Amino acid sequence: MIILFVSDEERFISKKRYDRCDVVVGCGDLSPGFLDYVVSEFRPHFAVSVLGNHDHRYFPDSHEPVKRGFTDIYKGVYLLTKDYVDLRKWVGLNLTIAGFSGAYSHGPFPFHYQEKEARAFCSKMKREKTIGKIKKIDVMISHSPPHIPGYFRNSDYFHRSSVPMGRLLSYLQPPIWAYGHVHPRYGRQELSFETRFLSRRSLVMNAIPYCFLDYDEKKREVNGLVSLHPILVQTVHMIPLKERSR
Ligand SMILES: [Fe+2]
Repeated sequence: MIILFVSDEERFISKKRYDRCDVVVGCGDLSPGFLDYVVSEFRPHFAVSVLGNHDHRYFPDSHEPVKRGFTDIYKGVYLLTKDYVDLRKWVGLNLTIAGFSGAYSHGPFPFHYQEKEARAFCSKMKREKTIGKIKKIDVMISHSPPHIPGYFRNSDYFHRSSVPMGRLLSYLQPPIWAYGHVHPRYGRQELSFETRFLSRRSLVMNAIPYCFLDYDEKKREVNGLVSLHPILVQTVHMIPLKERSR
């Protein structure tokens, strides 16, 4: 299946390579209008997104809790704040997507988070995986990046990677982990990775501004990646959790 990822920068998306996709995935800091454009143009079976730190502007009543799922704000887009969705239940696609919203800062969740919120989300995911409620996660999306030992060292406090989410990456090892927030044009550093741990591989990918992934949901493998700019994928061998330090 073809999955179109979009994040942070609202660009025209060429239809030269793909004029349709199966799923649209937003990694945050995108307006309802832009997501509406992407969904109308590429007519996916399902669209899903997390929220970024700039998205509070689309929620005029700051005292109302932000709802997950389908809302009146992002019409036709399923919002994930700290949960997951099995697409078989909605559109019959063999794909489970988990998402965690927000950027690292002291503002209110789901537009911002602190590590204790990330830890709580990771514990919930691990618990549900252990008891078999979650069978698999194919795609994990977050606005901020997961921590990968030795990388994201050039990031400032606000753009730092999340240590609990890095641990969740090692635990779940989803074939795809897409994130945004760290704009590639702001500085030179590695932003996309193929992490390897034992026989499993995860593509950890900065999705700004957009990219198409060809995903084999039966084999749970990425077959191809098409982006606006060439994406340099750094290979990282993950080490067991107990040996890791930030
Ligand atoms: Fe952001």
